[in-house]
Amino acid sequence: SARRSYEYIDVSEPRPGVGQITLNRPKALNALCTPLIAELNTALRSFQASPTVAAIVLTGSERAFAAGADIKEMAPLTFSEAYTTSFIESWSDLTTALKKPLIAAVSGHALGGGCELALMADIIYCTPTANFGQPEIKLGTIPGAGGSQRLTRAVGKSKAMELILTGKSFSGEEAERWGVAARLFPSYDALLEGALKTAETIAGYSKVAVQAAKEVVNKSQDLPLRDGVEYERRVFHSLFGSQDQKIGMKAFAEKKKAEWSNQ
Ligand code: CAA
Repeated sequence: SARRSYEYIDVSEPRPGVGQITLNRPKALNALCTPLIAELNTALRSFQASPTVAAIVLTGSERAFAAGADIKEMAPLTFSEAYTTSFIESWSDLTTALKKPLIAAVSGHALGGGCELALMADIIYCTPTANFGQPEIKLGTIPGAGGSQRLTRAVGKSKAMELILTGKSFSGEEAERWGVAARLFPSYDALLEGALKTAETIAGYSKVAVQAAKEVVNKSQDLPLRDGVEYERRVFHSLFGSQDQKIGMKAFAEKKKAEWSNQ
């Protein structure tokens, strides 16, 4: 297929089953201008549709994952422009259009919209140099890409309130300790390697089971416990209708490696 060319991102398939998107707007520390988000959405949709990609890694540079929404673009916006263009709404494509797992590999600044973008990923990995935060209060505004909701679910109300009201950032070590990040890696190279390895592991499982697993974990963020447990059970029951459940359990009994049909 024709390789698209992008201005603000790099796209590759570095491992079997794994897609990688690297934010590449170094002069602005990967500030997330509207055209960058449009390219990101195009790349994600193309990975979603791709038969060769089963899991995706999203990263930036060693210095910056992303330093936020583009302040220069936002500075002159009026209320009516923001409202009628649904400014920032397209960022949510990442959470609605993408059914395949996404790992954010965060080194350096992940501020404002950069922090929010990472929080939209299914898994966050980071380095000790990662610098997370919601500094919007310093600009006379508030998080606008879900930060007040997702960060609060991730760290609890008191910590989220402190972070969002003071604009203070938190380190990669804190992110890992608080459970915002699943794992900490000593360097950018180790981070990327770790993220690709995990993506490759996920890509080795049944596509049907992986999509279902992501779907039910995400439901936990939206539903009360009783409804979430019931939702999970419905999806679990439905997987008895998949070939891969039969393949996986038969392979276990025969002490063989499962060869998934993705059916
Ligand atoms: N938007 C636009 N440009 C940005 C930017 C942003 N969010 N962050 C950095 N840049 C630009 C700088 O303007 C600078 O460009 P010039 O060379 O043309 O001046 C370039 O990137 C390099 O930045 P610095 O010189 O500032 O680099 P530094 O190492 O001294 O500082 C930093 C790094 C602490 C991240 C600092 O750049 C900074 O504070 N950036 C803004 C962070 C921020 O407030 N983000 C939240 C944005 S609001 C938001 O995201 C809303 C939302 O919820 C959706």
